[in-house]
Amino acid sequence: MAVPEERFPLLGRGAHQAFLADSSDRPLTMRGVTDTDLPELLRVDREVFPDDPYPYFVLRQHIDVHGDRILVLDDGECLHGYVLFVTTSDGYVCWVLSLAVSADQRGRGLGKRLMLEVLRQLRRERVREVRLTVEPTNAAAITLYRTLGFDTDGGMHRDYLGPGEDRLIMVLGLGSA
Ligand SMILES: CC(C)(COP(=O)(O)OP(=O)(O)OC[C@H]1O[C@@H](n2cnc3c(N)ncnc32)[C@H](O)[C@@H]1OP(=O)(O)O)[C@@H](O)C(=O)NCCC(=O)NCCS
Repeated sequence: MAVPEERFPLLGRGAHQAFLADSSDRPLTMRGVTDTDLPELLRVDREVFPDDPYPYFVLRQHIDVHGDRILVLDDGECLHGYVLFVTTSDGYVCWVLSLAVSADQRGRGLGKRLMLEVLRQLRRERVREVRLTVEPTNAAAITLYRTLGFDTDGGMHRDYLGPGEDRLIMVLGLGSA
């Protein structure tokens, strides 16, 4: 499946210019991952999730198995974020497995843009439900997901990702018939 590429407009062209270029004013491109992105993908993942980054082999094989399900933010020299989402084999449910924006790029709408593109693709594919896990203390992510319509599926899932790794599960119905 071709992954649509979105190139954010250059600075000064619109109302949303605050998030349209990186700190060096290089325009950011949202596009599908490629094999050559692996070193940068690892770097961003380790920067954003220092306590629990993906091992090399996991990201390597995510790209091998479902590279069309990884979108990256690229300024032409480095990556500034990514989202990884995988749909179950019955095609009904998609799990967003990872969403990351570099610390120096947060608060500019980039996380939301990545998620909106994921939801756009999933609606087109008639996926019925999107699910994700989030740490109960992660206010930024929880607020972002709520603004997109996600809600928790109920209470806390104790030890969901291992001992002491409680998670909320947030769910968004896409309303496909
Ligand atoms: C969560 C994360 C992806 C958000 O990315 P971002 O690019 O900063 O988010 P955006 O700028 O697109 O924000 C979109 C909305 O999310 C909410 N939000 C974002 N950061 C927030 C914060 N620090 N506190 C509260 N709400 C926040 C706001 O509602 C915001 O909309 P607004 O700017 O109109 O108020 C980013 O903080 C991140 O990578 N965090 C570390 C990794 C992580 O927690 N990933 C998610 C794991 S489930």
